[in-house]
Amino acid sequence: MKCAFFTLTTLLFCSSAMALPPDGEALFQENCSACHGPRGMGGSAPKLAGDASEWKSKTFERAVLNGVDDHGKPLKAPMPHWSGASFKADNGAKPSKLEVDAIQQYLHKQK
Ligand code: HEC
Repeated sequence: MKCAFFTLTTLLFCSSAMALPPDGEALFQENCSACHGPRGMGGSAPKLAGDASEWKSKTFERAVLNGVDDHGKPLKAPMPHWSGASFKADNGAKPSKLEVDAIQQYLHKQK
């Protein structure tokens, strides 16, 4: 019984350690900075720091995943619709809201 308890605590500990939030900075640099500029300050695509980084997370998620801006207008190419794509390190898996939120939180901290 002692052993079963030990195994359970180890399992709980390990799974909570794995549930660390995604690295918003790495996600941004790998997937967005080529167009939006280093640290989201703008490039060929609009500045995100201090602008979209202040949107409600639902609005930001909708823009990133479905290509619809804060006024409900479709975002033009080449802005990808990420719901149909995968972030570089994710090997084909769809972006999660947690990842998109982590990107927004990273941008929110840029000045
Ligand atoms: C290939 C270039 C490209 C990449 C890569 C890219 N974007 Fe964009 N993005 C754009 C362009 C261009 C626009 C502006 C489209 C328009 O004005 O209709 C845009 C618009 C946006 C907007 C709306 C900004 C606003 O103020 O209206 C957000 C939010 C956004 N992108 C987030 C991201 C995020 C997050 C990533 C990475 C996961 C990303 N984009 C990757 C080109 C890109």
